[in-house]
Amino acid sequence: MEIEEFRTQAHLLVDWMADYMENVESYSVRAQTVPGQVAATLSKGPPAKSETLDSIMADFERDILPGITHWQHPRFFAYFPANSSPPSVLAEMLTATIGAQCMLWQTSPAATEMETRITDWLRQMIGLPESFHGVIQDSASSAILCAILTAREQVTGWRGNEDGLAGSPPIVIYTSDQTHSATEKGAKVAGLGRNNVRVIPSDPITFAIRPDELENAIIEDKSAGKLPACVIANLGSTGVGAMDDLEAVGEIAMRHGIFSHVDAAWAGSALILEEHRHLLKGIKGFDSFVFNPHKWLMTNFDCSAHFVKDPEALVRTLSINPAYLLSREGNEVIDYRDWSIPLGRRFRALKLWFVIRSYGVDGLKRIIRNHIKMAEHLERQIASDPDFELMAPRQLSLLNFRYAPAGADDLDSLNASLLNAINDDGVTYLTQNIINGSYSIRFQIGQTLTEQKHVDTAWQRVRVLAEQARKGRAQL
Ligand SMILES: Cc1ncc(COP(=O)(O)O)c(C=O)c1O
Repeated sequence: MEIEEFRTQAHLLVDWMADYMENVESYSVRAQTVPGQVAATLSKGPPAKSETLDSIMADFERDILPGITHWQHPRFFAYFPANSSPPSVLAEMLTATIGAQCMLWQTSPAATEMETRITDWLRQMIGLPESFHGVIQDSASSAILCAILTAREQVTGWRGNEDGLAGSPPIVIYTSDQTHSATEKGAKVAGLGRNNVRVIPSDPITFAIRPDELENAIIEDKSAGKLPACVIANLGSTGVGAMDDLEAVGEIAMRHGIFSHVDAAWAGSALILEEHRHLLKGIKGFDSFVFNPHKWLMTNFDCSAHFVKDPEALVRTLSINPAYLLSREGNEVIDYRDWSIPLGRRFRALKLWFVIRSYGVDGLKRIIRNHIKMAEHLERQIASDPDFELMAPRQLSLLNFRYAPAGADDLDSLNASLLNAINDDGVTYLTQNIINGSYSIRFQIGQTLTEQKHVDTAWQRVRVLAEQARKGRAQL
């Protein structure tokens, strides 16, 4: 493609992008295609001849767009958000245009130096102590894996990387029954085995890990000759937003000399609000902390902010030094390749720089505070509706509820069919959860464009579909 054609097409595309942002509400939130429908439109082999951008875009609109679930739709309340925003998209355009691969300081000094500065902005914004040093990972799963690997190396006296784990006593990770599956995956990838993730029960009301059970498990494993290596605490778990008591958990980890990590993938962004900072009490005792600006800080996927207290331990765990990666700056600079699993790195700090400067910290606070207010309002509506019940305490902007009209039995199947009806309907998109053995419907509010009217419309639709589900059942 000639540059002049690129210029023309790029202008057209920017118009398309702005129109999409303006009209995203007009789409069904969750894609309504059936499996194989999009694949059937794609040619089986690659084209030998050049095709015009006009025809590629026409195919995109006709065949691909219907198969997109609109994560930026203001009535997207499923999973956790994966925010985007205009300044973030603009930065992504620059990043793609420059196309820098930022594995070493030398391969783009600006990317490295900005990453150091911007992760420190984030640290200040969420109130982490100065003892934490940041790096941007692709995902919270990668940060959790890095934490588990560092813990593994520390507990084996740095022999795991050298000799492997054959002959080592079992290396154990402790976390609650609310923890995201990324911990189990990390244990598998790190060669520790999923059976060595010791799942500690959480409190049935608050869903926070039970510190007494945690300590008992560590003592039991030590006396059985196992190697307790790592505790992973939750600050905002995926299902119910469980908040572990960091002070109690960190103190136990320190007392037993165990590496400790906090998974705040979603809730970490809310720590920019002073009124939620109390959740960080006890953070000083932890070695590692992650949160995802790509979830709830108006920043495009992927962008996971990982903070560690001892970068040397992380670097010692991950560093490799082939001749072709050496650079003359040596230890004078940071080479972030040694802080992450992949060697290659995108220039992710740029979008944070755009977002934070464009909204200002106050603007970001306003958006998140508003999301939480809308969730409080919805919580009151659910609590006062005799046909619905809350299934867990609201955490920030995350709610769990179920439809439980008087006299209805088999609430699990009633709610499962209600959720299917909600998502087939297209007005909103919600996901499911199992809480203390019962099916519940999850509702999180965190989209960049969401306003009160979007939550109201979604809730009204849920009520109408619930009534239809009940009537449909009665007729059976
Ligand atoms: C609490 C929590 N931790 C970790 C993850 C994994 O995040 P990522 O997709 O960035 O790996 C998620 C994903 O939603 C999550 O909710």
